[in-house]
Amino acid sequence: MHTFPLGSLSVHRIGFGAMQLPGRGVMGPPRDRAEAIAVLRRAVELGVDHIDTAQFYGPDVANDLIREALYPYPEGLVLVSKVGAFRDDKGGWLPGQRPDQLRSAVEDNLRSLDVERLGAVNLRLTDHPEAGADQQVPLEDQLAEMVALREEGKIAGVGISTADVAQVQQAIDQADIVCVQNAFSLVDQKDADVLELCRENGIAYVPYFPLGSAFPHMPKVTDNAAVRTVAERLGATPAQVGLAWLLAHRDNILLIPGTSRVAHLEQNMTVGDLTLSADDVAELETSV
Ligand SMILES: NC(=O)c1ccc[n+]([C@@H]2O[C@H](COP(=O)([O-])OP(=O)(O)OC[C@H]3O[C@@H](n4cnc5c(N)ncnc54)[C@H](OP(=O)(O)O)[C@@H]3O)[C@@H](O)[C@H]2O)c1
Repeated sequence: MHTFPLGSLSVHRIGFGAMQLPGRGVMGPPRDRAEAIAVLRRAVELGVDHIDTAQFYGPDVANDLIREALYPYPEGLVLVSKVGAFRDDKGGWLPGQRPDQLRSAVEDNLRSLDVERLGAVNLRLTDHPEAGADQQVPLEDQLAEMVALREEGKIAGVGISTADVAQVQQAIDQADIVCVQNAFSLVDQKDADVLELCRENGIAYVPYFPLGSAFPHMPKVTDNAAVRTVAERLGATPAQVGLAWLLAHRDNILLIPGTSRVAHLEQNMTVGDLTLSADDVAELETSV
């Protein structure tokens, strides 16, 4: 399987996102606990060495499942988390951008995953413009805390998430980031400029919502008519075509599709073997 650097670490281009493991709305226990554990173990068996998680998935549920399924972790497994948010009791997503909150979120991840250092941590910027005054923290101060955590050895690499071009450039200049995690898929290419900036700088671009997410209000890659046509022609599933398009689109893209099902995981893990012809790509790209 092909690899791409995540800073000083190198990971396979097909990884796994843990956000679908907790219950509905990324809250509470999984729909099927045994299957959630099986998904994680099968992922590693099939070559996943990059798992994306967050302490606020559940909260605690995704990290607890990862630890239960995989500890002691196989050598080379890179656990990547994110900070900058937390949950209220109703499952609401709240910003947590103050440096002390970023620090305690990293500590929470270290504790719940039972590791001394995380492979990378993404500073997730808030998409709550209405957040309170204490959450309007200059990016420079947030990045400074992430750099301090890296210097203390708690994080191998700093990443940034939900960031625009100017914010990513600032993070490159100030924090020498190793990855960017933004929403991007065949049916949502609004972030193409950030992807390009990452490519120019040799930084991993890790799209979230690569299939359009599990949130019902978002367009799904698998509903796209051209995706379905190409999938039928190639004897693949629509999800495989959507992921194969991402792999083919730019070399610095790392996949972290999220699934709660072993059958879907197994499909997703084979997309490196699916070759899209130039005609397939043209058909997919003119459809959106
Ligand atoms: N940085 C951030 O702010 C941020 C935000 C969101 C997500 N993330 C990360 O990005 C990862 C990916 O995003 P995501 O999980 O939200 O969305 P996604 O990967 O675009 O889509 C997940 C949805 O696709 C379904 N699915 C997965 N594989 C499939 C297949 N082969 N066939 C049919 N359906 C399939 C899943 O359902 P099943 O469970 O039924 O398979 C789920 O409903 C997350 O897991 C998380 O680690 C980061």
